[in-house]
Amino acid sequence: MTIYIGTPTSRVDGHAKVTGAAKYAGEFSTEGLVYGAVVEATIPSGRILRIDTADALRVDGVLDVLTHKNRPRMASAKSAYKDDVGPEKGAPFRPLYDGKILFSGQPIALVLAETWEAARFAASLVRVEYRKAAFNTDLFTARDKAVVIKKPEKPRGNAEKTFAKAAVRHEAEYFISTEHHNPMELFASTAIWEGGGKLTVYDKTQGVQNVQRYLCKVFNMKKDDIRVMSPFMGGGFGAGLRPQYQAVLAVLGARTLKRSVRLVLTRQQMYTLGYRPATIERLALGATEKGTLDAVIHEAIAITSQYEDFSRNDTAWSGQLYQSPNAHYVHRLARLDLPTPSDMRAPGATTGVYALECAMDELAIALKLDPVELRLRCYSDRDQDGDVPFTSKALRECYRRGAEAFGWHKRNPEPRSMRDGSELVGWGMATGIWEALQMEAAVRIVLTANGHAEVACAFSDIGTGTYTIMAQVAAEMLGLPLEAVTVRLGDSTLPHAPVEGGSWTAASVSHAIVKTAAEVRKELLRLAKKMPNSPLSAAKLDDVTLMDGKLTHKMETNRAVSITDAMRHGGLDRIERESTNTFDGDDSYARNTHSAIFAEVKIDEELGVIRVTRVVSAVAAGRILNPKTGHSQVMGSVVWGIGMALHEETLVDHTFGRMMNVNIAEYHVPVNADIHDIEVIFVDEPDTIVNPLGIKGLGEIGIVGVAAAIANAVYHATDKRVRDLPITLDKLQR
Ligand code: MOS
Repeated sequence: MTIYIGTPTSRVDGHAKVTGAAKYAGEFSTEGLVYGAVVEATIPSGRILRIDTADALRVDGVLDVLTHKNRPRMASAKSAYKDDVGPEKGAPFRPLYDGKILFSGQPIALVLAETWEAARFAASLVRVEYRKAAFNTDLFTARDKAVVIKKPEKPRGNAEKTFAKAAVRHEAEYFISTEHHNPMELFASTAIWEGGGKLTVYDKTQGVQNVQRYLCKVFNMKKDDIRVMSPFMGGGFGAGLRPQYQAVLAVLGARTLKRSVRLVLTRQQMYTLGYRPATIERLALGATEKGTLDAVIHEAIAITSQYEDFSRNDTAWSGQLYQSPNAHYVHRLARLDLPTPSDMRAPGATTGVYALECAMDELAIALKLDPVELRLRCYSDRDQDGDVPFTSKALRECYRRGAEAFGWHKRNPEPRSMRDGSELVGWGMATGIWEALQMEAAVRIVLTANGHAEVACAFSDIGTGTYTIMAQVAAEMLGLPLEAVTVRLGDSTLPHAPVEGGSWTAASVSHAIVKTAAEVRKELLRLAKKMPNSPLSAAKLDDVTLMDGKLTHKMETNRAVSITDAMRHGGLDRIERESTNTFDGDDSYARNTHSAIFAEVKIDEELGVIRVTRVVSAVAAGRILNPKTGHSQVMGSVVWGIGMALHEETLVDHTFGRMMNVNIAEYHVPVNADIHDIEVIFVDEPDTIVNPLGIKGLGEIGIVGVAAAIANAVYHATDKRVRDLPITLDKLQR
């Protein structure tokens, strides 16, 4: 019997991806395809007085230029632009809706042309006159006006009072710069005009059904008239959770011309979408002399736009991760004249836990304690907010295995004490935490008599390996070879799925597969029982399993009927079943993943150049469905954590209210030369409570804490505490 769940498995879509057979949203084509180009606003706030498209329209090959003045009808109600995952409060941006400017870079015109070159050239000829309004894009000048929009987790005890009297205190402010998504694949939509008003939209999205519902509302179309497809994504990680404006514009163009339209944003325009909002984090930790926490205060001030209140949990992790009788959280938003932020890999935790874990490092120094030892003294076996146990929590094991693999016991705690030639050596560590979520999802399985199965669900594979784990789980549950399973996803006509995000996909889709496979097994047993002299005539559903292409009695494995025989005898050439798996978890447990990260930096003493030479990430995330793709997930997240710690920063020119470094030459991300040794350890964490298969989800946990481990290592190397990210070499000047 072949075991697929838990076996390192190469991507089933790997061949298609490396050979170019996998097609992305901007690569679909059809005869007579029209190309779009977007014209952007150059002011951050105000109104368009006049928009002159005459010169653009005169360019050879230009078919039309759409603006708020001449566009066809779109929904006017702001509520029509709400989607499944957008902020609850505020009104979403409506592309080309009116002349109001909400942020610099806002799309204000769409040029449609026979060639991409003509479209782009014509876009440069559109002239705009504005009435400018006052604006602010600076978090630091707006921080005093920041507002609380919703209360974070309820406080425990009286943190302020306890902190004021604590034996040992640490209090500091940390800062994380705005970071932008820079996936390889640009945001793109190809709207194929199918005739009769019907459209197929190939869209770069993490949620095809979310985009379909949204487009139906915006254009007052019926569900059957618009099909959204996202078969492959060159990196999603949050930017593709909400429908993006290029999908609206591609559809608008197609409906105007009654032709197919492709719209690919430029790399510069990628910076007009969502981003990880710059956040100021204030931590106040009060401890006893023994190194236990008495009080935790965590306050965050994050950027949002003027039109939507985007907010994620930055602060409550602090009262959840460590034992402390008193905890208090405040989350404020500064409304600026910028686009609305978006989710980005472990939103909230990546920023909030960075601050917490640097503060814990500073507290350990104040207490003269090893940073791992401090965390063990503050270890929490229960979730204090809900006063409930965790379904599982192998964080102690993460600390132990990570420290051992790293060689942490050889660390000299004294800053600037370790060297390697002309380089200072620093060792730092941090903890990571994320949620183990699960959502309702539906799966359809079609089993054919030749022993082939198709498993289908509308989830996307954002590059994380969803195709592969779906094939693994289906192959195991149906007792078929992996090659005999075809996975279909990323198509709005497939069974229901929420957006692919929050690290919830693996658990959600796997349990829907298990449930649907059981339905298939039931039908096969019914057929098998009808066979003459059936070896399974007395078997009940729970007695049988599917393995090696046969329905087999679990106790007496010689009692078996092949899938092919059962279906042939029953006169069926296909069995089709679809079922929805709902998540029935309640509040009696906390569901989380954890990690311990250990980092080594080497810093040129003269120049301040920082290299992250080693990272060990020990992760406890329940059952790992595929250690190979799982390893890639965590490794990729560590690379992103290195980017966050040392490189990534979107700079805004507050005089003009626009982002400056909107390209990957000036917005720095780690390259191969920046990446050295990364070791990923999956700690065993059996969990029968979180869900039947013990799946907690992976991906996001990999980035949480990484930047803190590096920042703590930089302090250990240099004796200089840099609290604002990224830690660029100028900040290490002595
Ligand atoms: Mo993730 S930020 O939920 O794509």
